[in-house]
Amino acid sequence: MANVYAIVLAAGQGTRMKSNLYKVLHPVCGKPMVEHVIDNIKNLGADRIVTIVGHGAEKVEETLGSSSEYALQTEQLGTAHAVQQADSLLENLEGTTIVVCGDTPLIRSTTMERLIKHHEQIGAKATILTAFADDPTGYGRIIRGKKGEVLRNVEHKDASEEERAVTEINTGTYCFDNQALFEALKQVKNNNAQGEYYLPDVLSILREEGALVSAYATEDFSETLGINDRVVLSEAERVMRLRIAEEHMRNGVTIISPDNTYISADAEIGRDTVLQPGTMIEGKTMIGSGCVIGPNSQLSNSVIGDRTTINSSVVRDSKVGTGTTVGPFAHIRPESELGNEVRIGNFVEVKKSTLGEGSKASHLSYIGDATVGSNVNFGCGTIVVNYDGKNKHITSVEDEAFIGCNANLVAPLKIGKGAFVAAGSTVTKDVPADALAIGRARQENKEGYVSKFKLN
Ligand code: UD1
Ligand code: CA
Repeated sequence: MANVYAIVLAAGQGTRMKSNLYKVLHPVCGKPMVEHVIDNIKNLGADRIVTIVGHGAEKVEETLGSSSEYALQTEQLGTAHAVQQADSLLENLEGTTIVVCGDTPLIRSTTMERLIKHHEQIGAKATILTAFADDPTGYGRIIRGKKGEVLRNVEHKDASEEERAVTEINTGTYCFDNQALFEALKQVKNNNAQGEYYLPDVLSILREEGALVSAYATEDFSETLGINDRVVLSEAERVMRLRIAEEHMRNGVTIISPDNTYISADAEIGRDTVLQPGTMIEGKTMIGSGCVIGPNSQLSNSVIGDRTTINSSVVRDSKVGTGTTVGPFAHIRPESELGNEVRIGNFVEVKKSTLGEGSKASHLSYIGDATVGSNVNFGCGTIVVNYDGKNKHITSVEDEAFIGCNANLVAPLKIGKGAFVAAGSTVTKDVPADALAIGRARQENKEGYVSKFKLN
């Protein structure tokens, strides 16, 4: 392969999205669509990647960081004009340039690779990636000559009735001989329905100069979805969701209902893990092997060990060990760390706390800003009182401590190793190791009280 350069078009506002968020930053399976495009190009091993930014330039650059170079298109005068903004960076280089729209996140790197290969093998100056659409509305149509040769692309808005009947569409991805591209761009005019400089016009310009212009058709139309509005966004989400699910299934993950399971593009899941319906795996979440996640669990940016069960629960920005069970109906909030063999049961909330190996909070508890050792037992209804209305305070509970039901542990507080806290206690003073703390009113029984009461 010759040197390969890539240009990603991402300057448009995306008016049809009707959004405050710039179009190319809308996430598909949890990742901004333009980042999918860049990642796919990176897989190609492109020598240079230039992203054309305009609307939301700063945000787009912030999102993509150093994975791309940038060229600014201050006014959005069309896709040809957009590509032209890369001239000072690429114009004189020898090689093949692939142009991809920032709103087509489903085009696979393997498809891009095949496009480039085809383009280079036949020695074309320009090759357009096309697909056949059941409903081609909105896409540019590929107009071919009598021998099937590519003549030009016509935009939907400029097309005649007859041209609109063509179902072969422009996917918005192209390969060019780099120098021929920048030469031809200078000749693109904007005398069309939208008054824009259209990139696909480069094809007919090169053809008229006698250069070889070609098309490469993909079989899978869904790959080429261009996301212009939220209806297509949800379609793309569906396609990508099933694609991601399929990859995990091929790698040994059981997904009971792929239609009802949402896995981010960046998640990693080990073998023999089962994902039950209604489960969302978000962000850079890593799940070990042999786990059961769901039904109805939401895990984001978290790391889960092996053989752990998370049923109908939420885990965010946290770590969960091996052989641990969470839920049903638990909430593990950011910066928590649950060790191995931990039990977190129903209606338990853990916030910014660490629980060591074998510790348990099986029912109805709140554990906030606490450092908990191993084999600690929190009885039903234990509350860690971490907030005094102004500041949050830390509680530490050492190994093997046993906290009775319905206790309030008022922070700052330290419960020593192996200590007991009697049920119903409100504990405000540190408890030494091995001690029993009782902090509740003493019970008094008034004999015969009830019958006397009823007589009056
Ligand atoms: C474009 C193609 C159409 C093709 C379709 C595939 C043109 C003229 N039309 O149409 O043939 O079928 O993609 O999805 O190219 N952009 C800029 N600067 C601009 C204009 C656009 O950076 O001045 C970017 C947009 O941010 C977007 C991409 O280029 O990522 C495509 O622009 P869009 O307006 O979505 O073009 P389509 O009408 O979809
Ligand atoms: Ca588009």
